[in-house]
Amino acid sequence: MTKVAFIGLGVMGYPMAGHLAKGGHEVTVYNRTAAKADQWAKEHGGSAAPTPRQAAEGCEIVFSCVGNDDDLRSVVLGPEGILAGMTAGTVFVDHTTASANVARELAEEAAKQKIGFVDGPVSGGQAGAENGVLTVMCGGKSEDFDRAAPVIDCYARAVTLLGPAGAGQLTKMVNQICIAGLVQGLAEGLNFGKKAGLDMEKVIDVISKGAAGSWQMENRGSTMCKGEFEFGFAVDWMRKDLGICLDEANGNGARLPVAALVDQFYAQVQARGGKRWDTSSLIHLLAND
Ligand SMILES: NC(=O)c1ccc[n+]([C@@H]2O[C@H](COP(=O)([O-])OP(=O)(O)OC[C@H]3O[C@@H](n4cnc5c(N)ncnc54)[C@H](OP(=O)(O)O)[C@@H]3O)[C@@H](O)[C@H]2O)c1
Repeated sequence: MTKVAFIGLGVMGYPMAGHLAKGGHEVTVYNRTAAKADQWAKEHGGSAAPTPRQAAEGCEIVFSCVGNDDDLRSVVLGPEGILAGMTAGTVFVDHTTASANVARELAEEAAKQKIGFVDGPVSGGQAGAENGVLTVMCGGKSEDFDRAAPVIDCYARAVTLLGPAGAGQLTKMVNQICIAGLVQGLAEGLNFGKKAGLDMEKVIDVISKGAAGSWQMENRGSTMCKGEFEFGFAVDWMRKDLGICLDEANGNGARLPVAALVDQFYAQVQARGGKRWDTSSLIHLLAND
């Protein structure tokens, strides 16, 4: 049993922290909106702290999962931040999808206090968090990763160290770049099939077993054809992630022509009121032009 803290009880963090408690760890939580932390403590039997610093005090490992780079800085740094509550020899693991630069910045800040840092963005969505089967892409030092990985296992089916601080975030960027182009391709194919008058359930059933098959086709193909988008991974989050990818690509010289175009398509989905729609809503632009 390890004494741990979890900062940020959103769609992802709430169930992830729950799996830590179910795994037998002693969990203290912090959430900006305190009512959610109180609710979590009632449900899982842990305790809620009024600040990130107080949640982190006395913990061997502290986890966070908030929105973006600035949100992350606001819970980690400063007199009431996570690092102010942690002591030398402990490890801070961040699950936010953020930039590689902020990961390196926080690793440096942590190192000044001899605290280990692991950036560990996740893939698998709300269902993956609730079912404890997330994929966790990590960056950091192997000794810090080795301490955190067995605890992360409570909510993950794969936890992998990819390189130094920032490598987890860079891997998540690869993940999002691959998804962006793929979902647009899927949207075009399915929309074409519908316009051609095909029975799309049958089409998806047969082609998902062949070379066109993908997680997106299997899990989103049918709802895309029905125009259902009120669930899943929000367009707002995807635009944040693609923004991070495009910034990173500006620095490393990688060309992202399709990801940049799809980012603009997502801006159009937002303008149609689809900020919280699932990323598969790209087909809405084709089906309702
Ligand atoms: N949802 C997904 O399917 C998914 C999948 C993979 C990765 N992610 C990534 O995981 C992260 C969290 O996503 P989510 O879906 O859990 O988001 P969410 O439901 O919007 O929750 C965000 C959490 O961060 C807290 N927060 C945000 N800004 C803050 C600030 N400035 N100070 C303190 N706390 C702050 C929120 O507190 P309040 O409760 O007070 O608002 C909330 O607990 C994001 O980086 C997202 O890109 C999400």
